[in-house]
Amino acid sequence: MTDILGDWKRSHYCGRISTADIGREVCLMGWVQRRRDHGGLIFIDLRDRDGIAQLALDPDRDPDAHGKAERVRGEFVVAVKGIVSARPEGTVNPKMATGEVEVEVRELRVLNSAQTPPFMIEDYADVAENVRLKYRYLDLRRPSLQGNILLRHRVSQTVRNYLNDHGFIDIETPILTKSTPEGARDYLVPSRVNPGTFYALPQSPQLFKQLLMVSGFDRYYQIVKCFRDEDLRADRQPEFTQIDCEMSFVDRQDIMDIMEGMIAKVFRDALGIELTLPMSRLTYAEAMARFGVDNPDLRFGLELVEISALVKDCGFKVFADVVAGGGIVKLLNAKGCAGFSRKELDDLTEFVKIYGAKGLAYVKVQADGSWQSPIAKFFTTEEMDRIGSAAGLEPGDLLLFMADTWKVTNESLGRLRNLLGQKLGLARKDDYRFVWITDFPLLEWDGETRRHVAVHHPFTAPLDEDLPLLATEPGKARAKAYDLVLNGSEIGGGSIRIHDRDVQNKMFSLMGIGAEEAEEKFGFLLNALAYGAPPHGGIAFGLDRLIMLLTGSDSIRDVIAFPKTQKATCLMSEAPGEVDDLQLRELSIRRAIRSK
Ligand code: AMO
Ligand code: AMP
Repeated sequence: MTDILGDWKRSHYCGRISTADIGREVCLMGWVQRRRDHGGLIFIDLRDRDGIAQLALDPDRDPDAHGKAERVRGEFVVAVKGIVSARPEGTVNPKMATGEVEVEVRELRVLNSAQTPPFMIEDYADVAENVRLKYRYLDLRRPSLQGNILLRHRVSQTVRNYLNDHGFIDIETPILTKSTPEGARDYLVPSRVNPGTFYALPQSPQLFKQLLMVSGFDRYYQIVKCFRDEDLRADRQPEFTQIDCEMSFVDRQDIMDIMEGMIAKVFRDALGIELTLPMSRLTYAEAMARFGVDNPDLRFGLELVEISALVKDCGFKVFADVVAGGGIVKLLNAKGCAGFSRKELDDLTEFVKIYGAKGLAYVKVQADGSWQSPIAKFFTTEEMDRIGSAAGLEPGDLLLFMADTWKVTNESLGRLRNLLGQKLGLARKDDYRFVWITDFPLLEWDGETRRHVAVHHPFTAPLDEDLPLLATEPGKARAKAYDLVLNGSEIGGGSIRIHDRDVQNKMFSLMGIGAEEAEEKFGFLLNALAYGAPPHGGIAFGLDRLIMLLTGSDSIRDVIAFPKTQKATCLMSEAPGEVDDLQLRELSIRRAIRSK
């Protein structure tokens, strides 16, 4: 049987040839990045996943190979045999890993031709993302995307090795399953053999990993796809990957210790960065007070300062009224920003309005310490002094004030803090600040459905000292839950679980889930809890988000081989797609809408 490769075997990846190979025969295979004709001499940059090698073809030395090279174009797939030689003086390219050598080609085979691609296969090529996504297989040839995917592979390997070494067992859990509530909508799959019924794709393996603890596996992990039908953002995909872990007979400290070790190893292996352990910690209450959000970016200060008590009787009615109405007033000191223009301040005001804010009052502190501000006239000198010292005010500073409900004030000022951090260049990409956020509230009141919902998920245990609050003020109970936040992004979250059936039932009833509904939705879990469930807990990390931060990518799509758009579509395969009526009939589904 003859094969297009014949007896040729690749000897090296393109990026691997070096001065140590000078004089050796090599065989390379890859894609033509570029061909340059230099009056007779032809140079080809040959690319594979490992790098680029320069091929030199001389018409006198090898007319046959040279003749074929004349017909080769960008993205043709070629194989060459030749001798590695030092590049002539003056043609060394210090920017290329293989820039000191080239391959004097003796034989060349064209393995496949290629149409002109819709864009240059180069980093920094300015191409619309929808075109890149449509031709994803070409976009994935670009070194930066390949680099991201290769790094992702290495991180997965590191994680597996670490967890294997720590006694975790990799166990697969079902994809066709029942709803696992993590706060998003489910993707549903109709069952043909059970007409009228549906599987849900897992939002996470949460229930199964808990059941594995009941089964006695003690330590579980899985690098696993999760599916959530939610509104997408730059760091969210409808299907994404978790590093999912669960452990028995542990407390929060044990889990955080083991997971810090894992993250530290990932940073060491992937970036050569040594993290300082233990990582810092903040309670949820403290994070909200100082940063306004539960995922603070600790690369910069710009902390929020509450001044409700200082302004409750002040002359500015907006502030006094908000405090009287149970709201809060906070400020943010943008150091050295008194020079912001009218337009810049208007932009900041527009920005906070996205989060429901009604306005954004400001004070510019002049060189002599006086206040330039539309609201200065409402304050006594004494009030100004007290606000100034609470804010650590200095000449040249810009104070930004927000008065609203606790939620709106924190969210809008917290987001404004992030925006300013970026605008002022305070957040360096290569600075990695981790923080565990602990003691989240267990439940949150949902005004729309008029019931409590779980802040993490319904299987999270309350703090022991807050257990009595479940009977009196459930909204005040704190949870044994923790998130790991890196540079303002939540990369992981978990909790100690409820292992007591009565507490789990109590939790369901607080959430307005009656006994019957609980039985129907989570009966298998409740049953399992009655058969000797060990104390257990765990965590899941968003692998895509982690890789995004490790690679400094702006979008989660740049670290996923085949991602979806903001509208949850795949521009390459054109999923989701129409199905024919026969297929629907088999599934006992009738359509109410035709898509186009
Ligand atoms: P949680 O819902 O916090 O916890 O998810 C864990 C981590 O998964 C990542 N993540 C996402 N990444 C990309 N796209 C999304 N749509 C998306 N949603 C979540 C985040 C998040 O921190 N079962 C629990 C974990 C546990 O309690 O053990 C869970 O799924 O980085
Ligand atoms: P006004 O008295 O409505 O003209 O507002 C004076 C300044 O206070 C303006 O800069 C408004 O943006 C700002 N402002 C209005 N409402 C609020 C609020 N709830 N919190 C903070 N600033 C506000």
